[in-house]
Amino acid sequence: MKYSPIKILIVSCSLFLMGVVAVATASDQTPNLGQKTLVINSGYSAEALTCIECHSKKMPGTVATWKHSGMARAGVSCFDCHAVEKSSPMAVQCEGLKGTSTYISPMVSSKTCSRCHPKEVEQFLKSGHATLASKAVMDVSKVGGGLIKLQYHYEGMGFIDNPDMKLDGLTPKDMPAYNRASRASGCQMCHGTQVEMGPDNKPINETWPGGVGTRYPDGSVGTCTVCHTRHQFSIAEARKPEACASCHLGPDHPDIEIYLSSKHGQQFLTHGEEWNWDSAPDTWEPGDYTAPTCAVCHMSGIGELSTTHNINERLKWDLMHKKSVIRSGERGDGEKGDMLMRKVCINCHGSTHTATQRTVLDNSVALYNKYWEGAVKMKKELADKGLLKKDAWRDGFQELMYYLWHHTGRRARQGSAMNGPDYAHWHGFFQVFQVYQDMEEIHKWRIKNNKIEDLSTVMSTGPL
Ligand code: HEC
Ligand code: HEC
Ligand code: HEC
Ligand code: HEC
Ligand code: HEC
Ligand code: HEC
Ligand code: HEC
Ligand code: HEC
Repeated sequence: MKYSPIKILIVSCSLFLMGVVAVATASDQTPNLGQKTLVINSGYSAEALTCIECHSKKMPGTVATWKHSGMARAGVSCFDCHAVEKSSPMAVQCEGLKGTSTYISPMVSSKTCSRCHPKEVEQFLKSGHATLASKAVMDVSKVGGGLIKLQYHYEGMGFIDNPDMKLDGLTPKDMPAYNRASRASGCQMCHGTQVEMGPDNKPINETWPGGVGTRYPDGSVGTCTVCHTRHQFSIAEARKPEACASCHLGPDHPDIEIYLSSKHGQQFLTHGEEWNWDSAPDTWEPGDYTAPTCAVCHMSGIGELSTTHNINERLKWDLMHKKSVIRSGERGDGEKGDMLMRKVCINCHGSTHTATQRTVLDNSVALYNKYWEGAVKMKKELADKGLLKKDAWRDGFQELMYYLWHHTGRRARQGSAMNGPDYAHWHGFFQVFQVYQDMEEIHKWRIKNNKIEDLSTVMSTGPL
């Protein structure tokens, strides 16, 4: 499929563009980060040139990086991405533009990219990386505004200076700025949030910059540069596992750790430098690499599959929430996802190997779900007898239940899905069973004594 006429057309088109504009930047082919002046021969409008010329002095790092990009060679410059209408809610004038009629914004959303890359943006907007990602940290509807409460009240220490903090109508301006610090430095940098604007069209309350699902003041959604970072916008970068690792890591979703400790990761670590990372879009195939990276399994064109920016497309199970179910609705189409993921594996593995791995995953999901259902049953009994604390974060049983699904249970499921035995087992099911048995002990004790133990037995210490 990949050598269809349409794809060849796209490939040769970009080569053509590169050839034409190579003239524009030919004199800068040898990058020189210390360079003070930039000679531009042709190819940019006069307006675009003023941005580049001044910024090469005032922001040399940005211009130098942009010069390495395919888009610089294709004549796409600062002006194309940053200039906005005066009427835009994000319109400002930088120091160099005061007194002119040109307005710009430091914020650039997927909407800007969609002018030239409509297909990628359309796919991206259907994925969990868009609205769902920012919804995850903004949703007040979740159990009593649980996530907002976690971020501002608990992590932001609102429980000390405002113990009765009411969530209704709460806005960041009602709280001390430090209440926002944990959210702004953590959740928001991976997930993104709604950018709030001050009267001078500048972002306020540390709501920008942000992560993949950032919601912009003009209603557009998504930061494309989380994987091919600004201002190089490299396709090779996005194909490497490091492009996902700044977010997909840690105790609750250790995807990079799972990958690097898998057989695929072993090949990447030992042979990755020999791989060809620069093939044209949609022509990157086995042979260019010997084992898959995150992008190969979740995004890149391979065999009969085309590249997709909808990372939900090739997934069967939801492995991140409390109970794992087959994906449907806004989470994707699990039955179809199953079929597509198998089509990835069979480029390098036989049908026996592939079928076994998929069964292992299905069984791991079933096993984890059994634990989860048992925990739900215990919790209900305790709730019915009034044996749960209202504050879940001071209640050993409820803390353990959180670790059961959010940390150990995710590691078991994702370790199994992505072939990382250490995460499936030692960081996964081994700890799942321990956490579960500790919950059983607390459950038994509370039922027998008809009261809640004085201190949390968990004390939130463990890297559970
Ligand atoms: C292909 C589009 C594109 C081009 C071309 C481009 N930028 Fe950007 N720029 C972005 C994106 C995307 C962001 C991140 C915006 C966000 O997170 O909302 C950004 C962010 C920025 C920021 C704000 C972030 C910071 O670090 O302060 C500055 C300043 C900036 N770009 C300057 C430039 C300059 C100067 C040029 C020309 C040499 C340029 N950009 C060319 C897309 C572009
Ligand atoms: C005469 C010099 C000069 C010119 C011309 C100029 N800039 Fe700037 N620009 C600056 C300086 C200095 C800054 C840093 C101070 C600031 O943020 O205002 C800046 C900041 C920026 C920022 C970041 C603004 C922010 O709020 O963080 C962006 C984006 C930007 N310029 C884009 C452009 C674009 C696009 C053009 C061309 C239409 C342009 N600039 C023309 C000097 C210039
Ligand atoms: C004015 C049109 C235009 C806009 C706006 C634009 N692009 Fe591009 N982009 C291009 C062209 C043309 C190419 C092909 C360049 C080449 O052949 O290397 C390209 C190539 C790319 C590539 C592939 C580079 C490679 O290594 O092959 C990426 C990734 C990319 N753009 C991302 C973005 C993102 C992200 C944005 C928004 C922040 C954006 N583009 C905005 C025109 C644009
Ligand atoms: C290091 C980056 C990172 C940080 C920091 C982070 N998350 Fe996440 N979050 C992720 C990733 C990646 C996923 C996808 C998890 C998966 O597939 O298992 C996720 C998943 C979630 C989900 C489930 C998805 C959904 O739509 O229901 C929620 C809710 C969530 N995070 C909320 C938060 C909150 C609240 C914070 C801060 C208290 C936070 N996250 C901090 C990266 C992060
Ligand atoms: C989750 C990481 C990720 C995000 C977010 C992302 N990209 Fe990509 N992008 C990739 C990968 C990986 C490839 C290379 C696919 C391949 O192997 O051919 C790619 C390739 C591209 C290409 C080259 C043409 C193609 O489709 O293969 C363009 C253009 C592009 N991306 C634009 C965008 C735009 C615009 C956005 C924002 C909507 C965006 N990307 C967001 C990972 C990402
Ligand atoms: C800037 C942070 C960030 C980067 C970089 C990133 N992701 Fe994500 N990813 C997230 C967040 C946050 C979520 C959770 C979205 C949600 O709420 O459903 C997520 C979710 C996912 C999901 C599950 C889809 C779902 O239902 O939400 C997959 C698969 C995924 N990412 C793959 C990738 C791959 C592959 C890469 C690299 C090519 C990557 N991501 C790069 C932040 C990121
Ligand atoms: C060998 C192929 C392969 C590689 C390589 C791979 N994954 Fe996966 N990934 C999978 C499979 C299979 C699933 C489970 C899909 C399903 O449910 O059918 C999955 C699931 C996921 C999920 C969804 C978890 C959820 O909550 O539902 C995320 C997020 C994810 N992978 C991210 C990554 C990241 C980041 C990397 C690289 C560090 C990576 N993957 C490498 C095959 C792969
Ligand atoms: C680009 C080729 C390629 C793709 C695509 C690929 N793999 Fe692999 N896989 C390999 C290589 C190479 C090894 C290492 C074989 C060895 O250990 O000798 C491997 C090893 C494995 C192993 C370790 C067991 C063993 O055979 O050594 C598992 C499990 C695995 N792959 C599962 C998958 C699954 C599931 C998929 C699809 C979601 C997949 N692979 C996709 C190349 C690939």
